[in-house]
Amino acid sequence: MKGIVLAGGSGSRLFPLTLATSKQLLPVYNKPMLYYPLSTLMLAGIRDILVISTPSASPVMRDLLGDGAPLGLNLSHAVQPEPRGIPEAFLIGDRHIGTDDAALVLGDNLFHGAGFGQLLRRARAQLDGAVLFGYPVADPERYGVGETDAAGRLVSIEEKPLRPRSDKAITGLYFYGNDVLDLVRDLAPSPRGELEITDVNRAYLRQGRVRLADLGPGFTWFDCGTHDSLLAAGHYVQTVEKYEGERVACLEEIALRMGFIDAAACYRLGEGMRQSTYGRHLTEIAYAYS
Ligand code: DAU
Repeated sequence: MKGIVLAGGSGSRLFPLTLATSKQLLPVYNKPMLYYPLSTLMLAGIRDILVISTPSASPVMRDLLGDGAPLGLNLSHAVQPEPRGIPEAFLIGDRHIGTDDAALVLGDNLFHGAGFGQLLRRARAQLDGAVLFGYPVADPERYGVGETDAAGRLVSIEEKPLRPRSDKAITGLYFYGNDVLDLVRDLAPSPRGELEITDVNRAYLRQGRVRLADLGPGFTWFDCGTHDSLLAAGHYVQTVEKYEGERVACLEEIALRMGFIDAAACYRLGEGMRQSTYGRHLTEIAYAYS
């Protein structure tokens, strides 16, 4: 499976924060926002990843992540000139995906919970069409919303409905079979002139080839797209890291635990940042692993 992080867009809901920098480079507590969606793909066991961003942010993302080799990844970078819709990621990334299945994660989505990696790897193994990830929220009208029947099967998906049929947000993480490339090529823009991810998901729903994986109790999901959710996400990461002793989206640690890099490589990465608690944590876990 190949991965894509879609990290473009204008970030207009975060103005003036995003007047001079891209949303996905803003800090969420102690690391750039982009680390969080990237960690999700890594936990799914995906190492071939394309980062799509705006023309101005792309060089900075390259500076930040390079080709991913130090993390045991194969990272490439591409530009989306204008935000023409989430599914455009598959038109930009079609050569990257080739004949593989695809995982798309939005660059402002933060997922965290015990057993998340296992859940993702199981979803990958069982993929036949599409897997979407649902999370209960208090304000479903802000998101794609999924309605399920008594057996937990998806029966409808609506984008930002005025009267949501459930409280289940369809989060910004999508697993698709390779046929998503053909499907998106034939997709027409919506009345607002964008390709819509909900139209892709509805096409799979019509074919009876979509499964909803519930991220229920014990999981946390933030779309860091507003001032309040950005701050709440930062507070959440601070609380988990300071008081629960666990690191969230520590890419080097995930690379080590996933077997993408060895302890010596992790130690070297920590050494380079040893003035920060983040760097010192890396040297400590590398030591414990060796
Ligand atoms: O976060 C989950 C939600 O993301 C889903 O529940 C919705 O179904 C989905 O449509 C999307 O809703 P948003 O209102 O958050 O969409 P937005 O247009 O803000 O785009 C989400 C992210 O994707 C944002 O960080 C910018 C990026 N993006 C978006 C578009 C349309 C791009 O990089 N390029 C684009 O063309």
